[in-house]
Amino acid sequence: MGKLVVCDHPLIQHKLTHIRDKNTNTKDFRDLVDEVATLMAYEITRDVPLQSIPVETPVTEAEGKVISGRMLGLIPVLRAGLGMVDGMLKLIPSAKVGHIGLFRHPDTLEPVEYYVNLPSDATERMLIVIDPMLATGGSACAAIETLKQRGCAQIKLMCLIAAPEGVAAVHQAHPDVDIYIAALDEKLDDHGYIVPGLGDAGDRMYGTK
Ligand code: PRP
Ligand code: URA
Repeated sequence: MGKLVVCDHPLIQHKLTHIRDKNTNTKDFRDLVDEVATLMAYEITRDVPLQSIPVETPVTEAEGKVISGRMLGLIPVLRAGLGMVDGMLKLIPSAKVGHIGLFRHPDTLEPVEYYVNLPSDATERMLIVIDPMLATGGSACAAIETLKQRGCAQIKLMCLIAAPEGVAAVHQAHPDVDIYIAALDEKLDDHGYIVPGLGDAGDRMYGTK
């Protein structure tokens, strides 16, 4: 079974409260999501392998640690996942970025895939699937399946808010995938929206609807 890591640092909780607030405007929503993504990047990269290199300080020669090259790939799920990419790249600028286009059909709630573009060396990287919302889990499971079908094996999932139903769905379908979230909410409503949640992440991020 994959891990569920709740990144509940006070800074993340503070910013997430403003993200949830229906009176937060589009620009502030985007800025806050960007900031939380940066803070979560710190936690999700905690176990990235290091290699030793020599370093000459002004005082002496020493051994330093650096992150091994070509390690990471970020895979935002369009649209809303895009809003977390720049925040993560601030801390891990050498990551490559692939894209998976999916939307949740409004009637069936089933994911509909419309676009996939991955780095050519995706199978050699640890991939982080990024999507602010893990509701039924259909979109996340489909995105992870898309990566696995193309030979990718090291996959993590990073979301802002998850419903218990979504966590259970990913754990069941992809027990090898660790999930990093900022908050575990109470439930889904009759339309598959997370309660209390933040509403429709894509619409709030891009000012649509
Ligand atoms: C939202 C969200 C996830 C999905 C979560 O995207 O960003 O991708 O719903 O729901 P699920 O866990 O039940 O699949 P949406 O389908 O609204 O597309 P958008 O980002 O293009 O608005
Ligand atoms: N997608 C969203 O954007 N929000 C939800 O609460 C559920 C799915």
